Amino acid sequence: MIAEDLFDLAPVIPVVVLDDVEAAVPLARALVEGGLPVIEVTLRTPSAPAAIARIAAEVPDAVVGAGTVVRPEDAERSAAAGAKFLVSPGCTARLQAAMVATGLPFLPGVATASEAIALLESGITAMKFFPAEAAGGAAYLKALGGPLPQIRFCPTGGIGLRNAAEYLALGNVGCVGGSWLTPADALRDGDWDRVAKLASEAAALRTT
Ligand code: 3PG
Repeated sequence: MIAEDLFDLAPVIPVVVLDDVEAAVPLARALVEGGLPVIEVTLRTPSAPAAIARIAAEVPDAVVGAGTVVRPEDAERSAAAGAKFLVSPGCTARLQAAMVATGLPFLPGVATASEAIALLESGITAMKFFPAEAAGGAAYLKALGGPLPQIRFCPTGGIGLRNAAEYLALGNVGCVGGSWLTPADALRDGDWDRVAKLASEAAALRTT
């Protein structure tokens, strides 16, 4: 799998902050059932690597990756846990090298043309655009598409059901990411039906 393949699997990548490792498998099943098989588990909680490992082992239809990869060692431990892809909110040469070394597809984060061009120099054409809304939103991303048409983005940050379609309509957007599919209270209460419903609404954003 290459990073661009992630774009074809689903229109939305749920960004998950998971405190309870026991929630990982039912949560992933609910997302898959709703039609969103690509799942980004952020390394913001201590349980993230174990959650990634559980989902990789027990939910075969899920494509689970690690998000919030900010240190070189984050890339290594995510790969060791069984992550199928990596996502970072920004990128440095060291972080890029560490992500490349895992052999996994990755979406490095950018917010400017210069950052995107720096990655393009390494042949990277799939990136995360973060923080999407705060950095300029869909209008900004559309403008980047003029001089940099070869790059496809996964915008994330401030995106929800209300504005996801605006991004998905852009030619340089492969998919969007967001945490709105997995509200903290639904995770705490084990409300997997609600998660599956949110996922199915999001999956319907792209029908082709
Ligand atoms: C991320 O990690 O990509 C963002 O924190 C997700 O942003 P959101 O919570 O605004 O969806």
